[in-house]
Amino acid sequence: MKTIYSIAELREALGQERRAGKKIGFVPTMGNLHTGHIQLIHQANNHADITVASIFVNPLQFGENEDLDAYPRTLTSDQEKLTAAGCDYLFAPNINEMYPNGQVIQTLIEVPGISDIHCGASRPGHFRGVATVVCKLFGIVQPDVAIFGEKDFQQLMVIRRMAEDLFLPVEILGAPIARAQSGLALSSRNGYLTEAELATAPILNQTICQTIAQISAGRRDYAALQEEAQQRLEQAGFKRDYYTICNRKDLQHAGPDDTQLVLVAAAYLGKARLIDNMVVDL
Ligand code: PAJ
Repeated sequence: MKTIYSIAELREALGQERRAGKKIGFVPTMGNLHTGHIQLIHQANNHADITVASIFVNPLQFGENEDLDAYPRTLTSDQEKLTAAGCDYLFAPNINEMYPNGQVIQTLIEVPGISDIHCGASRPGHFRGVATVVCKLFGIVQPDVAIFGEKDFQQLMVIRRMAEDLFLPVEILGAPIARAQSGLALSSRNGYLTEAELATAPILNQTICQTIAQISAGRRDYAALQEEAQQRLEQAGFKRDYYTICNRKDLQHAGPDDTQLVLVAAAYLGKARLIDNMVVDL
């Protein structure tokens, strides 16, 4: 695998691949790679001839009091994992490459509506930062196909909407959530958890499974179900963020007649903010 730090050099290398008729698959990440990321690489390998990963901790998607500085940076071990997974190129730009001259004025990509609820309500500006950097990365890599994890269900919807609205010539694919045996969704942020918190963390997914079982068994009093789950999480030591039974097409609150649902949830545990989701068809 070749690691490339500059846009010009990456364009040159990928231009050659493209001229040779190669289909390009792209997996954007912020690094500190785990099995969830690596599954996206495998999926890209299956859908394209050349796989490009990027590692860039994007300041634009972090709020002021968030973990930008603490975010784990583990380039060497990430390179080893990507090489083993059969990735062809790693693009690892620095901040000046992506935001030249500390760019104050720049184009921002806003996907209203979907960006303002759930994670977007808790993290104002987050999805603007994500959409903007992903759009920039698409402009640099010009992939035929790009893979995103369903763990960030709302992010995947924001990116699909952006690609559709801007007629970007890229196919967006989702990949299933990779979990630990305990059910805990793998995340770079799990590294913030203490041993005791790590034992508690799987309760988020267990609670979601429990709520979904109740929905499958016929309960439709979604507000009550959500409140019961929030109380269970609080008793276990989580602090509330959101826990919502949604309509899958727009992530709005589901009603009793909706059939294609997703339960999206986020909760704080110690220094970490954990997110998870599960879909359910009725
Ligand atoms: P990051 O959190 O590093 O995640 C990179 C990709 O890996 C995303 O598509 C995410 O959904 C996926 N992913 C993370 N954990 C996963 C898991 N347990 N199972 C399946 N997929 C998982 O998401 C970002 O970075 C950034 O917002 C980014 C899109 C790179 C823009 O900066």
